[in-house]
Amino acid sequence: MNTTIERSSSLKEQFLSDILEGLQAEPKFMQAKYFYDEQGDYIFQQIMEMESYYLTNAEMEILATQSGSIADQIALANTEFDLIELGAGDATKSIHLLKELTNRKLDFTYFPIDISAHVIADLEQRLPTQIPNLKITGLHGDYFEMLKRTATESGRRKVLLFMGANIGNMSIEEAEAFCAELKSTLSAGDMLIIGFDLKKNPKQILAAYDDPAGITSDFNINLLARINKELNGDFNLKNFEHYASYDPQSGACKSYLISLTDQEVHVGPYATVHFSKNEYIFMEISQKYALKEIEKLAEKTGFKIQKHFFDGNKYFVDTMWIVEQQTT
Ligand code: AVJ
Repeated sequence: MNTTIERSSSLKEQFLSDILEGLQAEPKFMQAKYFYDEQGDYIFQQIMEMESYYLTNAEMEILATQSGSIADQIALANTEFDLIELGAGDATKSIHLLKELTNRKLDFTYFPIDISAHVIADLEQRLPTQIPNLKITGLHGDYFEMLKRTATESGRRKVLLFMGANIGNMSIEEAEAFCAELKSTLSAGDMLIIGFDLKKNPKQILAAYDDPAGITSDFNINLLARINKELNGDFNLKNFEHYASYDPQSGACKSYLISLTDQEVHVGPYATVHFSKNEYIFMEISQKYALKEIEKLAEKTGFKIQKHFFDGNKYFVDTMWIVEQQTT
């Protein structure tokens, strides 16, 4: 009981201090992980159903049609393993892989990790009915904390899943640091399967983040609404407008909220924040990669590429990396 209460109050304090840090910075920014409150989850579902948001269908196609081949690669080592998924969500994509692994009678336990307790409870409840014989242990919390937990719980081989182009929410430098940190939790023979959105026609990319119905705009504005609700803020939601951009050279797709007027916003008693007319808040990066850049990232952070799995259009790749045996 106590731990739950402490945990939620410290999460709220973290939310407050991160929001204050971003609003007091120059230029202003917010962290993408805060998009996903209950309403944000709901709007993101709508984004994934948009015609223009090609990412979901592309990665779904990969998992639906190539999970057998992914499972074969995992089975090559012929040892039992832990399958650990970072940010499991509703597992609609990974379920294909779970089925293939289970059909091959491989000895593994599935550890979905998610920051949402609700998501984990739902998976633990639902997946065993969809996949009889599946061993599942849900972990609710921070990726690296939970990774360490799985490492102490078993010395088995590890296969990490990080799908959904979630790595896109990091800059290339942040992605490097993240992959290097993942690598430091792994041992020789362990695998990482990671989803990247690929560079493609810039108009197609921009259209995925700039829909005419304003769903992506709602997704961004919802974070202001969340601050109003949870931190007693007074953002006037009508005074901000979503702006998306894509730079084909760097591969950075960025979204901003633009202040439409000179205004002052309060976050409870904690801060008064001034916005000039046309000042922006940097909300999110969705980084796109060329295949070469992905290969460079793997190499730089100590992984060897085992295999790439593309959708038919080559919009997206789930790439399988392995930690090589140390040669001394
Ligand atoms: C969940 C990070 C993969 O960047 O494409 C979608 C989030 N933001 N539309 C992405 C998002 C706006 C999404 N990721």
